Amino acid sequence: MKDYFGYENKVCVVTGAASGMGKATTELLVALKAKVYALDWNPVDISGITKFISVDLSKKDAIDQAFQEIPEKIDCFFGIAGVSGIKNSFNQTVTIDFLANRYICEVYLNHRMESGGAIAFVTSTGGNHWEKDGNKKEYLPLIEANGWDQMQEVLESLDLNHLPGPLGYMFAKMAMNYYTAYLQPVFAKKHIRVNALLPGSTDTGMKNEFTLAAGGEEKLLASAGFAGRLATSLEMAYPIVFLNSNMASFISGELLIADYGASLTAQAKLTPDPMGEVTFDKIKLSIPKKDA
Ligand SMILES: NC(=O)c1ccc[n+]([C@@H]2O[C@H](COP(=O)([O-])OP(=O)(O)OC[C@H]3O[C@@H](n4cnc5c(N)ncnc54)[C@H](O)[C@@H]3O)[C@@H](O)[C@H]2O)c1
Repeated sequence: MKDYFGYENKVCVVTGAASGMGKATTELLVALKAKVYALDWNPVDISGITKFISVDLSKKDAIDQAFQEIPEKIDCFFGIAGVSGIKNSFNQTVTIDFLANRYICEVYLNHRMESGGAIAFVTSTGGNHWEKDGNKKEYLPLIEANGWDQMQEVLESLDLNHLPGPLGYMFAKMAMNYYTAYLQPVFAKKHIRVNALLPGSTDTGMKNEFTLAAGGEEKLLASAGFAGRLATSLEMAYPIVFLNSNMASFISGELLIADYGASLTAQAKLTPDPMGEVTFDKIKLSIPKKDA
């Protein structure tokens, strides 16, 4: 059969390749004969990858070091790594889930990708409502900051680190959804596509943490829509691999929601919104700092 996906011999960089969606994506890419550079802070045990690169995405120097081990020309980038925020502070969560992706795009992908390249992020339906003014005004300063150090300074100055880590997850995913829109026209000038997948609840290494954050398995299931079960990692890897493939050659600037109908029916007000009506300006008021 013709190679419709077109991954053969393409240099693909996958973050979060050790577990869950990143692992499933890496396995598919290897099967499609891509040259996969698999990044994670845990070891990646997948035969057929071109290289495993150990990296802590919360650290600028570690990212710089990792990209020295990746070829000058990158065809596809899969920004999948992330943390739920359960074990991390608000600012650490935003650093891993948002800042690292932005830094990689602007410092490396901007120079190392050519016409025909493609970028796919895994964000989340936890970042729904990113377009609301009350959310935008909180995360936009991070989009306006330039470079790693300034982004860290701005993050500190936002004064949100007293909020729980899982709220940092939602904040970061909202910022990533906006950033996909922001980046798309910039990279479109070079004929490089930029998309994001927004999964609903998926059975991955994060499942237990998300169950805790959601307040139980039943609530977690609500963001898996009408499926009546969580998605598998492979069911998310399929659309991720599709988005960066030749099969999606006219798809760019897409936030592809894969939650079996949960977001759409909530938007139509046919079902309750599993994400609630979160706005960060209200959250800031409702969770004041202890010393305030
Ligand atoms: N599981 C879900 O229900 C769900 C829903 C929506 C979005 N997501 C998103 O999907 C993406 C993939 O997560 P997953 O669900 O497969 O979970 P996972 O925990 O199985 O995989 C996440 C991977 O990211 C790696 N990682 C985390 N922090 C890192 C760091 N600082 N440096 C290097 N590697 C790091 C982990 O080691 C792990 O291999 C994440 O961005 C997550 O936010 C998950």
